[in-house]
Amino acid sequence: MKTILITGGAGFIGSHLVRHWVQKYPETKVVNLDKLTYAGNLENLKDVEHLPNYVFEKGDIIDASLISGLFEKYNFDGVIHLAAESHVDRSISSPLDFIKTNIVGTANLLNVARDAWKERATGDVRFYHVSTDEVYGSLGATGLFSETTPYSPRSPYSASKASSDHLVRAYHHTYGLPVVISNCSNNYGGYQFPEKLIPLIIHNIRNNKPLPVYGKGENVRDWLYVGDHVQAIDIIFHKGTIGETYNVGGNNEKQNIEIVRLLCRIADRKLGREEGSAERLITFVKDRAGHDLRYAIDSSKLQHELGWKPSVTFEQGMELTVDWYLNNGEWLSRVTSGDYQSYYEQMYSGR
Ligand code: NAD
Ligand code: DAU
Repeated sequence: MKTILITGGAGFIGSHLVRHWVQKYPETKVVNLDKLTYAGNLENLKDVEHLPNYVFEKGDIIDASLISGLFEKYNFDGVIHLAAESHVDRSISSPLDFIKTNIVGTANLLNVARDAWKERATGDVRFYHVSTDEVYGSLGATGLFSETTPYSPRSPYSASKASSDHLVRAYHHTYGLPVVISNCSNNYGGYQFPEKLIPLIIHNIRNNKPLPVYGKGENVRDWLYVGDHVQAIDIIFHKGTIGETYNVGGNNEKQNIEIVRLLCRIADRKLGREEGSAERLITFVKDRAGHDLRYAIDSSKLQHELGWKPSVTFEQGMELTVDWYLNNGEWLSRVTSGDYQSYYEQMYSGR
């Protein structure tokens, strides 16, 4: 039986990835290592936590002795590293948390993997680092980020992710650690913490609260349904060339205000409210400091070399996403009140 370590598996993308992996690969043991910060929620995995090939370990990726203990205990064949502080606004108010987890935490994992795998053949093991398109900086009205676009991160979050990408490449170049990296655009779907644009807007529509749009709402993001990112990670983990980087994106560029208006229309219809009622909640607020104008991804390398393509259209994905949050009101209420932490802290106390 192979064993892989997924870090950050209790978060948004991580929980979708863990669910996919434990079901699709019953012969692989999946160890989910997560610190359970405000963004980590084991409730996201309650439908698969009983499976015999799933194991949860609570811990912090900056803890070197914990990580080397886990490598000794499980003899991992692969690592898929997602654990991170992920919200740009929080990186503006608390940058050091991002430097600790995203830079020091990643360096720590690399260091332990390098040591633990020194007797393993390169083809036997793999360290996959999941990163973001924000490392490339901000685009003007035209152009796309490709794998050769120079790095130009502009927020503490993107600078910390860029730094972690450089460390991953350095461990490959200097020590021969078998690594692969992907840089993905904005994900959306169920189980995303409602501090990010799409779940926040749906949550506020549901509760008749103001819908905060930064600046004029003209900033552009390239949206990808989370299930399509998970498929890309699966393909890149299995077929990606060691040392390479793959950009992942949905080719769905939208201004924020377009997204918010679309969510208002879909939610009004699904909630049986009069058309236009949610739009009246839109409130233009002070812009994010250093707000990147536009991100857009060229994912042709991944499409042509590894055969990935998105399967969910933007319209389908948005319908699915609004349905998910409207049908999971209790999840939304619990994560916004923080109750889930005490619930799961109780469940895993003493571990
Ligand atoms: P998230 O914030 O929802 O989840 C992060 C998870 O990491 C949480 O479960 C949290 O508890 C855990 N974590 C945080 N610090 C930790 C630490 N020190 N030790 C162990 N676990 C820790 O994030 P997400 O949106 O699912 O993003 C996952 C990864 O994908 C991140 O690396 C992010 O940079 C990258 N990414 C995200 C997007 C996106 O649109 N969300 C797009 C591209 C790349
Ligand atoms: O591009 C990939 C990145 O996408 C990931 O690496 C990050 O982890 C993820 O958080 C996301 O970053 P963004 O900053 O693009 O996502 P966010 O949902 O915070 O914001 C999306 C856009 O919406 C952005 O232009 C800011 C704007 N916004 C956001 C919030 C929370 C608003 O206008 N109002 C809001 O309340």
